[in-house]
Amino acid sequence: MAPAAYRKLAGLIAATFTPFTPQGEVNLSVIGPYIDYLSEQQGVKGIFVNGTTGESLSLTVAERKILTEEWCQKAKGRMDHVIVHVGCMSVKDSQDLARHAAQTGADGIAVIAPFFFKPRTAEALREFMKEVASAAPNLPFYYYQIPALTGVNVHVRDVIEGIEKLIPSFRGVKFSGCDLMDFGQCVSYCQADWSVLYGVDEQLLAALAMGAHGAVGSTYNYIGCHVNKLLSAFEKGDLVQARAIQFKMQELLSYAMKLGFDVGVNKQLMAELSGLCLGPPRLPLMPCPHDHAQLIVQKYHSLFSKR
Ligand SMILES: *[C@@H]1O[C@H](CO)[C@@H](O)[C@H](O)[C@H]1NC(C)=O
Repeated sequence: MAPAAYRKLAGLIAATFTPFTPQGEVNLSVIGPYIDYLSEQQGVKGIFVNGTTGESLSLTVAERKILTEEWCQKAKGRMDHVIVHVGCMSVKDSQDLARHAAQTGADGIAVIAPFFFKPRTAEALREFMKEVASAAPNLPFYYYQIPALTGVNVHVRDVIEGIEKLIPSFRGVKFSGCDLMDFGQCVSYCQADWSVLYGVDEQLLAALAMGAHGAVGSTYNYIGCHVNKLLSAFEKGDLVQARAIQFKMQELLSYAMKLGFDVGVNKQLMAELSGLCLGPPRLPLMPCPHDHAQLIVQKYHSLFSKR
């Protein structure tokens, strides 16, 4: 396949939920309306499919393939970027998914560090990623760092040292950790065609100040339209406005966290706010108690409606 014309990743990217039926099977019919919702209601033009929010590590490889096909097909002409997460514990499964993502027309692939046998060094992690990237050498490749879930705490700056020589398709990082010094060092090191994207939604503004090129997160599924205003306020240098939006996000998320904010609760919140049928999460995540989602929805409206 010819390499896709490369467009640098920027702006807001929603980490999508995986829609299930009430019985817990993948429901592909929701994906078309889901893309419409993101594009029309949230002004979000990029998606990150099957990462943490998409419960990818709880899906079978076969399910991940059909999901990729559906997201890529439905996103055609509507989304600027479809990045497919292909991380698995087995490097062979990751290669299989990477190859499949290339055939399916994804705009890029991303990989988390394996976390049962963990890479102990930056070099081990680079070697793992090199093997995955080599299965789809023409697809832009991103390292997806999320230390709170993987337990892999190798500094990203060390991981990306000289990585372009090992992985010519390397194009950046989805940085979902809180270490802003490491983040800043990545931005400072990164090459002109790389994107360093931030993934901790509640402190995005700090990462923008540090030079983030964009953001990937689950809350952009339903507050993307507000966070787009945060991005434009920041670009205009209106920090008062940017902070006001960031503080509302923080208030919403700290409220949700007190109620036990996991992907199950988050998914139910998205379902309530968007009207999409996303179904329950898959075990070991537990379904969200209905009243919890309702309380967070009320908080959302009190913070973000009108005013
Ligand atoms: C799948 O989603 C569609 C669209 O929301 C819905 O109409 C349908 O009932 C769902 N299928 C099942 C089996 O729940």
